[in-house]
Amino acid sequence: MRVLFVAAELAPFAKVGGLADVAAGLPPALARLGVDVRVAVPKYRAVGERAPDLAPVGAFPVTVGGETLTCNVFQGTLPANEVPIYFLGHDPYFDRPGIYGERNEEYPDSLARFAFLSRAALALGPAVGWRPDVIHANDWHTALAPVYLRSGTVDPVSRSVFTIHNLAYQGRFPIDRAEAVGLNEAGRHLVGRGAQMNLLRGGILAADWITTVSPTYAAEILTQGEGLEEALQARRDRLTGILNGIDTSVWDPSTDPHLWARYSATDLAGKAANKRALQEALGLAPTVAPLVGMVSRLADQKGFDLVLDAFERMMALGIQFVVLGEGDARYASCFRDAEHRHPGRVRALIEFSEPWAHRIEAGADIFLMPSRFEPAGLNQLYSLRYGAVPVVRATGGLKDTIQECDLAHDRGNGFVFVEYTAEAMLDAVGRAIRLWRTDPEAWRKLVARGMAEDHSWNGPARQYCAVYERVVAL
Ligand code: ADP
Ligand code: GLC
Repeated sequence: MRVLFVAAELAPFAKVGGLADVAAGLPPALARLGVDVRVAVPKYRAVGERAPDLAPVGAFPVTVGGETLTCNVFQGTLPANEVPIYFLGHDPYFDRPGIYGERNEEYPDSLARFAFLSRAALALGPAVGWRPDVIHANDWHTALAPVYLRSGTVDPVSRSVFTIHNLAYQGRFPIDRAEAVGLNEAGRHLVGRGAQMNLLRGGILAADWITTVSPTYAAEILTQGEGLEEALQARRDRLTGILNGIDTSVWDPSTDPHLWARYSATDLAGKAANKRALQEALGLAPTVAPLVGMVSRLADQKGFDLVLDAFERMMALGIQFVVLGEGDARYASCFRDAEHRHPGRVRALIEFSEPWAHRIEAGADIFLMPSRFEPAGLNQLYSLRYGAVPVVRATGGLKDTIQECDLAHDRGNGFVFVEYTAEAMLDAVGRAIRLWRTDPEAWRKLVARGMAEDHSWNGPARQYCAVYERVVAL
């Protein structure tokens, strides 16, 4: 089985959110199952900075609409394995400081950039002499790949699988741009919605199979599908929810180079050392207080309105709080204000930082993820592995991965609330803090249970293989 995995992000080269982690974690797990999988991503400026010695392996023409552009191919691998990565270069589009944009402004030519990526991914196989059986596209940025295949714009030699990581980002553009990105009548029909193109809709309608990143989200979006319910329902017999895994070699507290001390479920002394070091590094008071952490894009999806609404009441529970995030300036400034109001108790790191993300998971007692919606969520899984007990809202992948702590039966791995209200969230945070304060032994067991869970990519990779096998047999 030959699979080309195409995405707009790839950790550690170019990352904004979880898509990058999936692109880096799933392909190696597929390779371990014997799939000949390769990854295609843009050669952004950040890629060249991180890997200045990438080998150029050729160039090929890519025709999008009336225009023929050159795609320069550079081959590399991920840091820890041999999965081939094709970095697709076209400097006018990708040699820029940002991935999607800069300073919260999306680049005005995103349609052209990602149409190029989608079209180049389809032309890559012939150019390098390797014909994929399946093109696995992800999110709206690469949704045109299945659309081009389905509409006969390119020779349909490959089947397509399309994974929805987040229905909130759909890639909407004026329909009069359809010709410029090379869509024929059939392609236009797939993406068209009145005066608009909607690339995500096109991917859903065109792909041979659609997956999304958790079973609960797969069910939720049939009725709460951000306006795409009809398209999703039309394809429901080809829609599968496969829960994301995590890369257990990158996220492992017993080897993590970003931490101050290493630890494991059987030896938690290192976790306490990380908490003390985190407090010291961030200027938090070295007191005995539950440390609540958040690492997240600062986006409405993530439930920051609840956090800010409940903030003072949460602080009144005697916690320390640290947030790491980039995004919406409103949230950033609210958290900066909170930091000034609570010196020594609150820190807001408004930046993107891989090391801090790891250190917060390691140092925090409690990890807060009160998402409004969450297709899968990776941070609650990193938290489990790092012994930061997740407090989450029961939605999407959070619902599939976190169960309320049940002391009587020694079950559960976190604290869960259902209603999207500040009160419900506060109540769940309160339950966590109460247990942390009153029953250290029960807390230790809760932490150890979470750390022992297996959320590696091995299981999900087998499910993706089954999907690939189904589509090639269609
Ligand atoms: P989403 O993809 O919606 O952003 P996920 O939970 O799937 O949510 O994945 C988010 C990923 O991005 C995690 O790996 C998380 O650690 C990382 N991340 C988010 N914000 C930051 C940040 N400011 N600095 C470092 N890593 C971040
Ligand atoms: C999206 C979702 C997140 C998911 C990630 C990777 O960005 O918001 O829930 O974990 O994609 O699939």
